[in-house]
Amino acid sequence: MSLKKAYENYFRIGTSISRKNLENPNALEELQKHYNSITCENTMKPMFFLDEEANVANPGKYNTNPALRFEIAKPFLNVARDNGIAMRGHTLVWHNQTGDWFFKENYSKEEDAPLASREVMLARMENYIKGVLEFVQTEYPGVIYAWDVVNEAVEETHTDGWRDSLWLKTIGKDFVVQAFRFARKYADKDVKLFYNDYNAFWPEKMKYIIQNILEPLCKEGIVDGMGMQTHLVRDESNLEDYEKAVETYGAMGLEIHATEIDIHVTDPGEEGMQVLADMYRRIFEIYTNACKSGKAKVTAVVFWGMKDDESWLTNFRKERSYPLLFGDNWEEKDAYHAVMEVAGK
Ligand code: GLA
Repeated sequence: MSLKKAYENYFRIGTSISRKNLENPNALEELQKHYNSITCENTMKPMFFLDEEANVANPGKYNTNPALRFEIAKPFLNVARDNGIAMRGHTLVWHNQTGDWFFKENYSKEEDAPLASREVMLARMENYIKGVLEFVQTEYPGVIYAWDVVNEAVEETHTDGWRDSLWLKTIGKDFVVQAFRFARKYADKDVKLFYNDYNAFWPEKMKYIIQNILEPLCKEGIVDGMGMQTHLVRDESNLEDYEKAVETYGAMGLEIHATEIDIHVTDPGEEGMQVLADMYRRIFEIYTNACKSGKAKVTAVVFWGMKDDESWLTNFRKERSYPLLFGDNWEEKDAYHAVMEVAGK
């Protein structure tokens, strides 16, 4: 039995992958066995597709139409295509992992260089989105089924909710709507467009996302789904709020993707791994119940990493984390069995 088989009547099961996974035959085998969706953990972020050297060297030529390069993504797209695994595109517009120079007049790398105008940034945004979508759709038709068009535009701690980013500073609050318009203009018809954010189940943040991001996009009919990243933390994440959020976004008629699941747990012993299994059981019940009751169309559930020792959390939190279904040696953890039980397997 495998995860994707167990959940074939519900939703796609996905994982993020990194370069390390591509070079490891075990990873490839696990990929083929368990998953029918993959997301590049890093490779499709703007800092990799933007050809910094070319743009900075020749700002006159590339001022509104940035030079792009795609070689780095090809091994991932090849794996997806060759194994019949669909891919989530992640991510077109983000404040992070996008060089500051991209937002500056003449692509300047001077720290105090002025920001480019709204008009120039709108053109850069449009041509970036166009270039990326045309590349994948021409060379890998049908491989990418959904895009995170905008990632993390809302910051719950910020007084007025909008994250203080260079996108916001240069274009203004409509940068989100503009990005989705461009994405809809250039994406193939059946490609689904998502807004993606972390802690999207925190009641205040959810309210803000709905009012400021999703409702305007829904009104124009240019968004298909809500990406709930789902980086959860033991003893902190409130799964009742999480369930309500799945249903609330679902009630807006949006598809739901859980796009980046992991659960930060630092205790690899019996107790910690039991808590992990219980939390995984609960969130998978939330997904399957939403599908059964029709309260939300959950269509993809994606883990952020294939096994514990490769998770970003250990570096980010500076505490070794055991957040996934598979242990360091690919062993199936209690959490794996809990997830299989929810599917009746
Ligand atoms: C965010 C981003 C991901 C990744 C994680 C950390 O959630 O959306 O692409 O960078 O942070 O790994």
